[in-house]
Amino acid sequence: AKRVTVKTLHAMKEAGEKIAMLTAYDYSMARILDAGGADVLLVGDSASNVMAGHETTLPITLDQMIYHASSVVRGVERALVVVDLPFGTYQGDSKMALKSAIRIMKESGGHAVKLEGGAEVQDSIKRILSAGIPVMGHLGLTPQSIYKFGTYTVRAKEEAEARRLMKDAKLIEELGCFGLVLEKIPAHLAKKVSESLTIPTIGIGGGADCDGQVLVTHDLLGITKDFHPRFLRRYAELFDVIKEATERYVDDVKARDFPSDKEQY
Ligand code: KIV
Ligand code: NA
Repeated sequence: AKRVTVKTLHAMKEAGEKIAMLTAYDYSMARILDAGGADVLLVGDSASNVMAGHETTLPITLDQMIYHASSVVRGVERALVVVDLPFGTYQGDSKMALKSAIRIMKESGGHAVKLEGGAEVQDSIKRILSAGIPVMGHLGLTPQSIYKFGTYTVRAKEEAEARRLMKDAKLIEELGCFGLVLEKIPAHLAKKVSESLTIPTIGIGGGADCDGQVLVTHDLLGITKDFHPRFLRRYAELFDVIKEATERYVDDVKARDFPSDKEQY
């Protein structure tokens, strides 16, 4: 299969073909999602929640993100691999931001980076782009700022925040980013942003008019259990599938049914 590039995504928007993005954190899952036709795999800092069990995305380190990303890259033949810059590795110091992005590109083999925020991180975006590294933006509910927001509820419902988001989206396009994630904002606002930009928007809780969609894979597969936001559609109940397989294995071991004569040397 022909590799997806940032150019491919731009062409998809022009052609009106929706972009399907999913998160991935490891080699085995990346192989499956790539085989299933996901256009973009995001090595999200949601690995902090989903893989490491932290309450927020703040604790995950650059080294840990590089480990996840390098594993994903080895599992992919077609999808574009985008890697989140974790909290504390790009804000406030654009030289540090470039260093962080270069480490991701060199040490993981990822194809692009993503970072959260608009005007306040524009110097970092500019400097990373100046090194030839594709950058994806992320506006709306930006989980690295959870302690500023206080809750994970919908963002930009009020006029002032919606206006600021529109401005930041325009800026992100003008700076040269290749795409923009819109997380948990009203659908009418995401539509307006998507129509006013030539770069693709990827929604998570951003409604049907975004140019693409992204979900956390463990949510979509039903591996996570107690998370039911409105925007989430579950395509499997793997928690139950895996739990049941585990129970059957445990039973077989206890009952001395496993291994059988044929399952030993
Ligand atoms: O880390 C993540 O999974 C993300 C997506 C939800 C956009 O940033
Ligand atoms: Na993220």
